[in-house]
Amino acid sequence: MYTITFKFEQKGLEPITLNNIEPDQSILEVALKNDIDLHHNCGGVCACSTCHLYLEQGEDLVEELSDKEEDFIDRAINPRLNSRLSCQCVLLEGDGNLVVTLPDQTQFLGE
Ligand code: FES
Repeated sequence: MYTITFKFEQKGLEPITLNNIEPDQSILEVALKNDIDLHHNCGGVCACSTCHLYLEQGEDLVEELSDKEEDFIDRAINPRLNSRLSCQCVLLEGDGNLVVTLPDQTQFLGE
């Protein structure tokens, strides 16, 4: 089981910590199930960059970055070294704590 803390770059949003998160699901799925607004224009199949987030902690707890994912991250807004696509961050079997930061989702408005 995992604990995931979601932080937000959007002003006025407080961090949310979710406990007892099961493995075998992506961070995108976890977010959506818990009413955390995270864009996913391609439906979670690694064909866009709207589910982009920063993985601050827990890099070893999710599936590794693929070349395809890296290509899409290059097209995201403000990519950083710890950028990931949340639909590709599938939680591995195990336990631990993850911390992610979501870019300001309002920057996609109008798409
Ligand atoms: Fe499109 Fe993740 S939702 S790449």
